[in-house]
Amino acid sequence: MPGKPRLSSTSSLLCLTTLPRICPVKKFKLTRLILGGSLLLGAVLLWLSYNAPFSNSKSAGERNSPPVPHLECQGRAQSIYRDDIGIPPRDHDSDAKMRINNHVLVLVETQYSRLGQEIVAILEAARIKFRVEPTGKSLPYLTHMDKGKFGVIVFENLEAYTNMDKWNRQLLDKYCKEYHVGMIIFAPSKEDGILSSQVEGFQLYIHTNLVLKDYKINPHSNILRLTRAGETWQGDLPDEDWTVFIANHSTYQPLAYASIRMTDHYSYDSVGEDVKQVVVLQDLGLCDGIQRVFFGNGFKFWLHRLLFLDSLSYLSHGKLSLPLERYILLDVDDIFVGRNGIRMHADDVEAMVLFQERWQKQIPNFHFNLGFSAKYFHHGTPEEDLGDDRLLEHKSKFWWFDHMWQHTQPHKYSNQSHLEADMAKNCKFAQERGIPVEWNYAIAPHHSGVYPIHEQLYEAWKKIWNIKVTSTEEYPHLKPARHRRGFIHRGIKVLPRQTCGLFTHTLFLNQYPGGRQRLENSIRGGDLFQTIVINPINIFMTHMSNYGSDRLALYTFESVFKFVQCWTNLKLLSAPPTVLAEKYFSMYPEEADPFWQNPCEDPRHREIWFKNKTCDRLPRFLVIGPQKTGTTALYSFLSMHPAITSNAWSPETFEEVQFFSGNNYYKGLDWYMQFFPPPVPGTNISQNYLFEKSASYFDKERVPMRAHALLPKSKLICILISPVKRAYSWYQHMRAHNDSTALRYSFYEVVTAKDDAPKALRDQRNRCLVPGMYAQHIDRWLQYYNVNQLLILDGELLKTNPVIIMHKVQRFLHIEPYFDYSMHLRYDSKKGFYCQVVNGDHTKCLGRSKGRKYPPMDSESEKFLQQYYKRHNVALSKMLHRLGLETPSWLEEDLRNFE
Ligand code: A3P
Repeated sequence: MPGKPRLSSTSSLLCLTTLPRICPVKKFKLTRLILGGSLLLGAVLLWLSYNAPFSNSKSAGERNSPPVPHLECQGRAQSIYRDDIGIPPRDHDSDAKMRINNHVLVLVETQYSRLGQEIVAILEAARIKFRVEPTGKSLPYLTHMDKGKFGVIVFENLEAYTNMDKWNRQLLDKYCKEYHVGMIIFAPSKEDGILSSQVEGFQLYIHTNLVLKDYKINPHSNILRLTRAGETWQGDLPDEDWTVFIANHSTYQPLAYASIRMTDHYSYDSVGEDVKQVVVLQDLGLCDGIQRVFFGNGFKFWLHRLLFLDSLSYLSHGKLSLPLERYILLDVDDIFVGRNGIRMHADDVEAMVLFQERWQKQIPNFHFNLGFSAKYFHHGTPEEDLGDDRLLEHKSKFWWFDHMWQHTQPHKYSNQSHLEADMAKNCKFAQERGIPVEWNYAIAPHHSGVYPIHEQLYEAWKKIWNIKVTSTEEYPHLKPARHRRGFIHRGIKVLPRQTCGLFTHTLFLNQYPGGRQRLENSIRGGDLFQTIVINPINIFMTHMSNYGSDRLALYTFESVFKFVQCWTNLKLLSAPPTVLAEKYFSMYPEEADPFWQNPCEDPRHREIWFKNKTCDRLPRFLVIGPQKTGTTALYSFLSMHPAITSNAWSPETFEEVQFFSGNNYYKGLDWYMQFFPPPVPGTNISQNYLFEKSASYFDKERVPMRAHALLPKSKLICILISPVKRAYSWYQHMRAHNDSTALRYSFYEVVTAKDDAPKALRDQRNRCLVPGMYAQHIDRWLQYYNVNQLLILDGELLKTNPVIIMHKVQRFLHIEPYFDYSMHLRYDSKKGFYCQVVNGDHTKCLGRSKGRKYPPMDSESEKFLQQYYKRHNVALSKMLHRLGLETPSWLEEDLRNFE
């Protein structure tokens, strides 16, 4: 029977241990009978316990018999930090963390293996940095400048660790010992696995393919931090392929146990069902100096996510600990909005107040955060209008925020003053009724205008409401939720928003989409619970209708808060949105910087984007630089082509837009798109092939990432000349612009400046030399773009034979019609360069700032720079060879100079 346990030749080992012997069930009819009876009884009891609290529920559609959250922790535990055995959550901090980095190395079977992807998903959700490597390959560098690069090593498969080749295994173990780096190792069952075996090199046995139930955590384990022991997860565990660990050495300590479950296929004769099997095991490292945590199953069982996070914290000496505070903000969007029959009644409002008071004891400062669209005040049935009145009677008990006067999506306003006027109406309503709205927070209906950005919304929010914080589930995308992040735009902090499974039409538990058990699962260890576990700051979206009918929001959140209390040491708190935003960006400062994507790439984004905007007002290729290699000449030649249109000139930076490389980026997408002509009237399509050239893009750290986020399909062109000549041309350029440092220091002084030189000189040196390290910059672009999206041009050839170059460019772009540049470019002996032919016989050359006359470079500097760039040129040559790209003649020459 594939996938099921079978007797193994090594099963006699088990006698030494607590593991039961497994036999085919047919031999044990009595056991089966008893089991059958108890299962039936169990099922009845379970049904009763589950349904009893709902027994007074009326059928779906009727009001006033909402389900009651009935979940209780076992044991006494009343306060958040209660612990039945009196052990507070561990602080894993130790000095060892000073020697390691905060990255996790994940060693997977393949890039696509399921467990590997789940490990990555948890790390991403927790914002823990990681590197994934398939096992079997050589290990990545483990140290850097006497610091361990990885704080924890995770093996997706125990066998991959034990079967590692000797050299790699020694290297890894030595690293772990020396830097006190621990390992997390999963021990999945093999389909046709041996029932039991000794783990090679360990005083440890495993038994695979087991079916288990009733999970319990060892309260004495020093790994526990956010996981709280004291409860038993009663019932069957998912999967029928658990691995359990058997050990008789004191280096091994159980972290979690479960019991064997009898199934139709098997019973266990030597021990009863109740014998505890170790399913997560800690190795204290007493035998070989390496601490490990072994998991007998992956993440299908929800508690393993928590134990995994705790293991990361413990094994990294606190370097990867998540905080224990969880902030909760519960937004109720669209108060007053909703069709008749699903709005709140007065008693629903009273229930809300009651729950809020109750929750405040557990969650300091908790307030429902009500988003109102005042136009719909008193738009319900008479009973529902009384509900609106009751909300206002209790207005000071809640926090309130603007949700647009008539719930219109902001991106639908083309006119700034209309948008502001509607906002002002909502504001006036709040003022007249004395509604407390001092929280500088607003939510846009359907997230419209927040991302993708509708600048008018930000403008109006600032002007009418002085908004400082908002939240959305759309940045960068709705799915996957674990990728949601925050950003800051025009001083407004945008926080990620979480969904809880309740939407406008989720009204009754019995009618919950997919069945009520689905919601229960989400609460009990599933999505909703895990959202709170992984996110230190949670802003949840709910709707007014979730507080009427079955009051599902009250039920759901009270249940999940209790579940959090039962199973975790997390402390729930709340705070006004501005405080949350401060905390969020101090925790994740790297997120403050937004990145803009093409709104047409995501159907949801396209839906909430201003209808007159088009994604065809973006470039199809970029000339990325670097500076002083002939980029302006290429720009002007490209602009001559009848099918190509360049960006418009900028008043500040002339022919360059410099969007991705500097502060212009913060001006947003609308600003960038102004540089490109709108599409042909009546269509959404640009007539021409649009492009943009900014020479500063080539070497700036964040540009490839930003450019790729917006223009993933764009082509890229860069031009290279000898970095030595480029550096000199740049220096001359700075002198021509009267740069004081360039005027003060000679070229030689600039390029040879030491690290203790004055800052201005060091900066000048870096700006002069860094762009010429071509290989490393190209490498960064290729981390985002495919090599066939990149064209590297020989800048020397552009000077001497631009027709060849332009022919190459046209082929690369697949552009039509073909433009014969030989008819349109001519060498101008006065200028010393090729220029555009105009009016038949005249030429139009680039201005004086291009193709300058200056003295030749001194030989000392040249010698110094040839040496300086040697390794960069070698790297470039290797890279071009590897990528199958042509080697430009200047590079061959530069390399020959050093042979
Ligand atoms: P120099 O002025 O030092 O000679 P960029 O436009 O990227 O800043 O590059 C300027 C360089 O382009 C000039 O540097 C010049 O050598 C080179 N160039 C190439 N073709 C040219 C052309 N047709 N006209 C003017 N300069 C050209």
